[in-house]
Amino acid sequence: MYYSDEIVEEVRLANDIVSVIGEYVTLKKKGSRYFGLCPFHNEKTPSFSVDPASQMFYCFGCSKGGTVFTFLMEHENMTYPEAIKALADRAGITLPEQSFSQKDKEARDRKSRMLEMNKEAARFYYANLRTAKGERALKYLTGRGLSMETIRSFGLGYAGKYSDHLYQHLKDKGFDPVMMKDAGLIDISEKNGVNDRFWNRVMFPIMDLNSRVIGFGGRVMGDGEPKYLNSPQTYVFDKSRNLYGLFAAKKSRKSFFLLCEGYMDVISLHQAGFTNAVASLGTSLTGEHAKLLRRFVKQVYITYDSDGAGTNASLRAIPMLREAGINTRIVRLAPYKDPDELIKAAGGEEYQRRIDTATDGFLFSVEMEARGLNLDIPQDKIDFCHAAARLLNELPEEVEKRAYREEIGRVYGLTNEELEQVQRKEAVGINMRPRTMQPKKTPTVRRAGDHKNRAPMTLLSWMFSDERVLRAAQAYIKPDDFDDPVLKKMCLGLYEQSQRGMIDPAAIVDGFENQEDQERAAAVIHADLSDIRASSQQDKALKELLYQVIINRLRGLPLQEALEVKKTAENIKKSKLI
Ligand code: UTP
Ligand code: MN
Repeated sequence: MYYSDEIVEEVRLANDIVSVIGEYVTLKKKGSRYFGLCPFHNEKTPSFSVDPASQMFYCFGCSKGGTVFTFLMEHENMTYPEAIKALADRAGITLPEQSFSQKDKEARDRKSRMLEMNKEAARFYYANLRTAKGERALKYLTGRGLSMETIRSFGLGYAGKYSDHLYQHLKDKGFDPVMMKDAGLIDISEKNGVNDRFWNRVMFPIMDLNSRVIGFGGRVMGDGEPKYLNSPQTYVFDKSRNLYGLFAAKKSRKSFFLLCEGYMDVISLHQAGFTNAVASLGTSLTGEHAKLLRRFVKQVYITYDSDGAGTNASLRAIPMLREAGINTRIVRLAPYKDPDELIKAAGGEEYQRRIDTATDGFLFSVEMEARGLNLDIPQDKIDFCHAAARLLNELPEEVEKRAYREEIGRVYGLTNEELEQVQRKEAVGINMRPRTMQPKKTPTVRRAGDHKNRAPMTLLSWMFSDERVLRAAQAYIKPDDFDDPVLKKMCLGLYEQSQRGMIDPAAIVDGFENQEDQERAAAVIHADLSDIRASSQQDKALKELLYQVIINRLRGLPLQEALEVKKTAENIKKSKLI
């Protein structure tokens, strides 16, 4: 989807970044900027800044930054056009009929064609289930306790025993075999020719938020390997960004979701009236999943399998969800293996009881640390204290730390002092000792070679924030003097804007297509120049920066020209600039 620069600009101007971000983050004014706790990483002291002048945000802790559009894309998991649309709606702007660039149009056509094909395949499987050949599959599903209504509403189907029935069907409908292969519906090989990929399996179509079929899971009836065969990643199916059952769960309008592992869990739960169940489908939960969930709920009840793998998956999911701003509770299923089994054996009322008595996610992590320890034995008690302290230290807020510390003390018979003391020790050792769960390093915008970029970055940053510097620089510096393509493009944009008489840094940042470039550009604009600004020698500092950037031109120049450049550079030092 493509909107013109003018429209994007209009939408941005109508949505002040401070008020938009203020809807998500509590901001306090400090000097000319606003500060708050960064929503993209865990922190205790605010390093997330929003600058009304440049209409940009930047986190000095994790280096995320960008415009109001970037913020929504990152925070709400939106695409660029979705962010534009959302902010246009917010400001009451009607977007023009979308026009498409040729490339966008082709990609869109390809996507919608694959979605159409998937839908046709789902219809085919669905119809198959209701023929004589699907009898066994239907028995299998009803034998697992699914009603006809449930089978219908999840669009379940059956891939038969013919080796190329789906292929023939889709070909008759005019779909391209290459696309069928790309979608993971058929295999083509020299030896065996064309074969349907799903063969003699019960089929679970996977739907996206808009109930479009983006992929399939197929289960063997009975034992067999693999138990579930799934569609591969395609351009309409990204496992790390989709959750099974989300389309239906979204409609439940519940304040929390139930997060489970598998297809059958989701279906059983929905059938039992728990229509807020979703599954990450056997892949471990990703940050993208967490963000996606956060679009709908602030609380997630994790209802993974009760075995060791399920427990470990829960322990990984808890901090991940917390980082996305989601509270977790753990639904204990033992002695049953998974929600499907529990409901079948003990009923929906029992499951509801398990929900009502679910364990707080953080306390669950603590409890798992105490597993197998005997707290009456000194060494076990010490180990436990350290483990609990490490977990406490991961919490972002002091109040949370205190509340949980008290609760841990109460449950495990430890004093507040004991825990606090170990916590302090753990906090000091945090960077010195390998830990069981190292917090994920956030990528920074700095790249190898950035120390060389120091002067150009500082100069450019200063040009953005001080008109006198911009004017002086324009007299001496060309965009090409910046080697780094990001800086070069920023300089070019700045000069153009200055000619039009309107400086709008956010527009320049928006001009970068990829996220990394956007973040680097945001970092340049937000660089801390307080030292230079406070200095009594601003003129000298500026000359030095200009000199360093210009001298850069020397490289690769023939001697005569090099000497001239050198002369210009030296001349700068003689005149007073600001
Ligand atoms: P489980 O093995 O727990 O399956 O895997 P389940 O959902 O309880 O299935 P039933 O009740 O035996 O039918 C959990 C999820 O992991 C993925 C599937 O999404 C499954 O629902 N998985 C599992 C696969 O993708 N492939 C497999 O071979 C197994
Ligand atoms: Mn199961």
